Amino acid sequence: MEMAEDWPEPIVRVQTLADDGAVPERYIKPPSERPDLNPVTALATGSLPVVDLAGLSGGAEERLATMLAVSGACRDWGFFQVVNHGVSPELMEGMREVWRSFFQLPMAEKQAYANSPKTFEGYGSRLGVKKGAILDWGDYFFLQLSPHSIRNYDKWPVLPASLRAMTEAYGEELEKLCGVIKKVLSATLGLDEGFLHRAFGEAGACVRVNYYPKCPQPDLTLGLSPHSDPGGMTVLLTDHNVKGLQVRKGDDDWITVEPVPGALIVNIGDQIQVLTNATYKSVEHRVVVNAATERLSVAFFFNPNDDLPIQPAAELVTPEAPPLYKRLTFKEYKLFMRMLGPGGKSHVDLVKST
Ligand code: OGA
Ligand code: NI
Repeated sequence: MEMAEDWPEPIVRVQTLADDGAVPERYIKPPSERPDLNPVTALATGSLPVVDLAGLSGGAEERLATMLAVSGACRDWGFFQVVNHGVSPELMEGMREVWRSFFQLPMAEKQAYANSPKTFEGYGSRLGVKKGAILDWGDYFFLQLSPHSIRNYDKWPVLPASLRAMTEAYGEELEKLCGVIKKVLSATLGLDEGFLHRAFGEAGACVRVNYYPKCPQPDLTLGLSPHSDPGGMTVLLTDHNVKGLQVRKGDDDWITVEPVPGALIVNIGDQIQVLTNATYKSVEHRVVVNAATERLSVAFFFNPNDDLPIQPAAELVTPEAPPLYKRLTFKEYKLFMRMLGPGGKSHVDLVKST
């Protein structure tokens, strides 16, 4: 698959549509893909498993209980919330505030950072380059943080003045947290702590700030269509007052996540599914929008190095459990999302070995 040079049609910022009376045709999902927002028939909201990471520095028993909680959550949900994660509340609040201010800047200021499908870095309003695709009700800002050699400050907004330092500091804390989670996941797979560290190599990290404007007809569209995250793992900072994230549980149940104040949401990406030969699976999720208010989230993606081949680890492959996936680098794999856009779990299917 080749990288596209440009978008197939002019980009419309969803933010400019928020005050219209109706959702334009291009954002209207087919009936089977629309969310059920009726409080009577829709499923109740659910709290994802909450893991207290303070348990990792406790005694042997507490440590084991924490590990078991993580491994249970990964097997049952592919998602969990973490508390006592070490990321400072001031930075979490600061990130929300500074990026909310960014999206409130005049349009001309933001347009200076308009992105292209070449790297996706900058201000964007779609994933995928399929002409005529039905679009999602959200704008975003995407930045590559690591390896530092590919950090390109030309793409970073100069306003608000504190955005750059805030985002750098947040990125550093999140990389530390992902380092801890990497070890925990390795150990819960019955492998040595360094397993994922070696498999990821010099990791990549990027951040996508999602901005979902309020929507006149939220039952017709989605803020972000069903997808699994292509990378290694994701840590999501959500708007604690506005729900929107839904996680697929079972065949057709979408559970609305109830954010726990101060928590961060962790989920497994496709690369961990491939590396663990599906012991841990990435799980589909989507975002619903609402008529009353905008919503902001900050997704921190922690990924294997772009150029390392990713394949089921020898330690997890046996004659009874043969490798389920073909080998691909993350640089190759991420083109699926970039070219095809969100597609449920269909991208993982593209690397199945048979
Ligand atoms: C993502 C994502 C969820 C949200 O950015 O990949 O799934 O709540 N975001 O914005
Ligand atoms: Ni996602």
